[in-house]
Amino acid sequence: MDKLIVEGGHKLSGSINISGSKNASLPILAAALLTDEPVRISRVPDVSDTNYMLQILSQLGASVERSSGTVRIESPEGISSSASYEQVRKMRASICLLGPMMARMKRCTLPLPGGCVIGDRPVDLHVRAIQALGARVRVKGGNLVIDAPNGLVGTTVDMRGDSGPTVLGTDNLMMAAVLAEGTTVIESAAREPEVVDLANFLNKMGARIEGAGSRTITIHGVERLHGCEHTVIPDRIEAGTFMVAAAMVSDGLTLNRVWRPHMKAISDLLVECGHTVEFNEEGTTVYVAPAKNPRSGKILTNPYPGYPTDMQAQMTALFALTPGISVVKDTIFPQRFMHCSELKRMGANIKVDNGTAIITGVESLSGAPVMASDLRASAALVLAALAAEGTTEIHRLYHIDRGYEMLDEKLMSLGAKVSRVLDLDAVPLEES
Ligand code: EPZ
Repeated sequence: MDKLIVEGGHKLSGSINISGSKNASLPILAAALLTDEPVRISRVPDVSDTNYMLQILSQLGASVERSSGTVRIESPEGISSSASYEQVRKMRASICLLGPMMARMKRCTLPLPGGCVIGDRPVDLHVRAIQALGARVRVKGGNLVIDAPNGLVGTTVDMRGDSGPTVLGTDNLMMAAVLAEGTTVIESAAREPEVVDLANFLNKMGARIEGAGSRTITIHGVERLHGCEHTVIPDRIEAGTFMVAAAMVSDGLTLNRVWRPHMKAISDLLVECGHTVEFNEEGTTVYVAPAKNPRSGKILTNPYPGYPTDMQAQMTALFALTPGISVVKDTIFPQRFMHCSELKRMGANIKVDNGTAIITGVESLSGAPVMASDLRASAALVLAALAAEGTTEIHRLYHIDRGYEMLDEKLMSLGAKVSRVLDLDAVPLEES
């Protein structure tokens, strides 16, 4: 297991390319199961979550080839409809295999994803969706055992849960519906750009999907889908993470291969707090520089186009060094504050209560040994370490490797003093 050693206080400068989106790639890779023809997907980030997904697909019998960021997948007749616990337990997002497996094979056995540090990860909305299309769902031995002997039939499904829309739930229903009989209408659909990217990929395969990006998506079932080529959208959360790094500890950074329309909530908040955010005309490059007098801020996370839950930890690191009192409330994952206790070990002044963090800015943070806990919490610790005085050791780096492609190399290219070393005193790897 690795740890990251970060020598704080070195201002970043220069430019980097943002990678393709992890959260767009995962359902798109799963959607390759919907055809027996080859699909070619470019800008798939080389992170452990996409590697887990590719391992699962090849375990199911698909042929998977990867050359740098491009993946070629072919899912011949006879692929398995049952994914192993060993693989699935590593990544909750493997639930997005449910839709394509049911559409292609009309049955699937998928281990139930357990909870994780950001909170319980229920799948009741996924189950509601596939049952609405006529499938039978049983829970047996920790697995979802699903079949649809009479096939899947389109209908209208309202996918709203207590915490609002579901991203992967919307994806699963869309993928199950593309080969169903008749028309499916998804009400209260998730509007995330990653859902739109999946719909665009499915339409390139010959699906007939309208309204992706709005709260109502209509899918007209077709007989079969064919192969296609697709390039995944930029990762708006990676881009946001580097924008916060620029606002915290840089002389100004330029981020290439971003897409402005996906970054509004993140950009608006940084500007409200006094930081400089300038996109080029095409919206594909952004320059970010720290405010001379940064202002505290308030975050209430919401489904897209609201402020993303995946970006609240990173902004908390910035707020920790911003004069005044900032407030972060996560309405989607109210327990997603594991980073706060680690930031306090570095001298941050944060009170967490009932899904809300109250952050009082301090003059400086001091480097310390800290523990990564989940993907975005770990990113927040890296940001704090870059700005802190002294050296920080971030243990359990595998959390970061799940969703950030070559993070240490990118930071080094911007002038950060970071090094990845083997963590000799690491405790055994518990379930991620
Ligand atoms: C996706 O997870 C993202 N992951 C998450 O990013 C992101 O935090 C989340 O959407 C919210 O934006 C991927 O896209 C791979 P949800 P997903 O279903 O789809 C509740 C990261 O850091 N819910 O939209 O699993 C759920 O508990 C990851 O990259 C139900 O109640 O999340 C939550 O409160 C972390 N029942 C809310 O809905 C269900 O059946 C939104 O969850 C499903 C979800």
